[in-house]
Amino acid sequence: MNKEILVVGSINVDTTIYLDRFPKEGETINASYKSVAAGGKGSNQAFAAKRSGANVHFLTALGKDQEGDFLLPILQKEGLDQNVVFCDLPTGNATILVNQAGQNEIMIMEGANGFISPAVIEEKRELFEKAQFIVLQNEISMATNEYILKRYGDSKTILYNPAPAKKISQEALRKAAYLIPNETELALLTGTSNIEEGARYLLSLGVKNVLVTVGSQGSYLFNSKGQHHCAPHLVKAIDTVAAGDTYLGYFVGSLAQGLSSEKAMETASKASAIAVTKKGALPSIPTKEEVQAAHI
Ligand code: RIB
Repeated sequence: MNKEILVVGSINVDTTIYLDRFPKEGETINASYKSVAAGGKGSNQAFAAKRSGANVHFLTALGKDQEGDFLLPILQKEGLDQNVVFCDLPTGNATILVNQAGQNEIMIMEGANGFISPAVIEEKRELFEKAQFIVLQNEISMATNEYILKRYGDSKTILYNPAPAKKISQEALRKAAYLIPNETELALLTGTSNIEEGARYLLSLGVKNVLVTVGSQGSYLFNSKGQHHCAPHLVKAIDTVAAGDTYLGYFVGSLAQGLSSEKAMETASKASAIAVTKKGALPSIPTKEEVQAAHI
């Protein structure tokens, strides 16, 4: 069994700057290293799902510019270029600072990612009809996410990653089969920093599963059956960018290949632990073979 996954979301050129520590306001400091690579939450999640062995389609947008020319072959190489729409906006960009502890600060410029509108969704209706799983994040317009959640939430399994944190209508939110926030995003959505309280509130709205990722504390799944905790794989993190995306991609990829939510959490947790041991977003996402072979 290998059900179809449709990821609708962003793709960015990530410029990552590695520093000993983050600069203070008004301060200039030396960086140790700079890299330019593919990223974007949607793209990272699509690549992770694909590398888990799943059958994945990726609906995204590129500008007709140098950065679009840089990203297109990367999508082609992974077989994820079939549903790229081109537009007159600049290709999305992210500037990322990573400190010595592997923590990051990210600034994004939406650009072409903002081009994915409800009209584009309608044009690509066939893709949505064929998919069993739909994956969304917050780097495309909220109007588009809300449109997809309301239009397909009752007939498809939608996994919604509310990152970066933004407000969304309850009417749309309750259509998510899996809501997958980290603890900061959960607090913004619910007004509480208590994970269980926040998750139970979301379940009471109608969300079927709340899967909270808590970095070095692992992940927690809440649903009508109760609560399940997946322990983290403790590794030395050098760059945590795309760890959450790798987790989500491997989680949905595992569900689509027939694993239970609990087993999918284990695979996702292992894949994201491997990702934090490597630099970059997309370059850090492991293949299925790497995940199977890793003893961590
Ligand atoms: O989640 C990591 C991603 O966030 C980066 O690849 C960057 O593009 C930003 O969108």
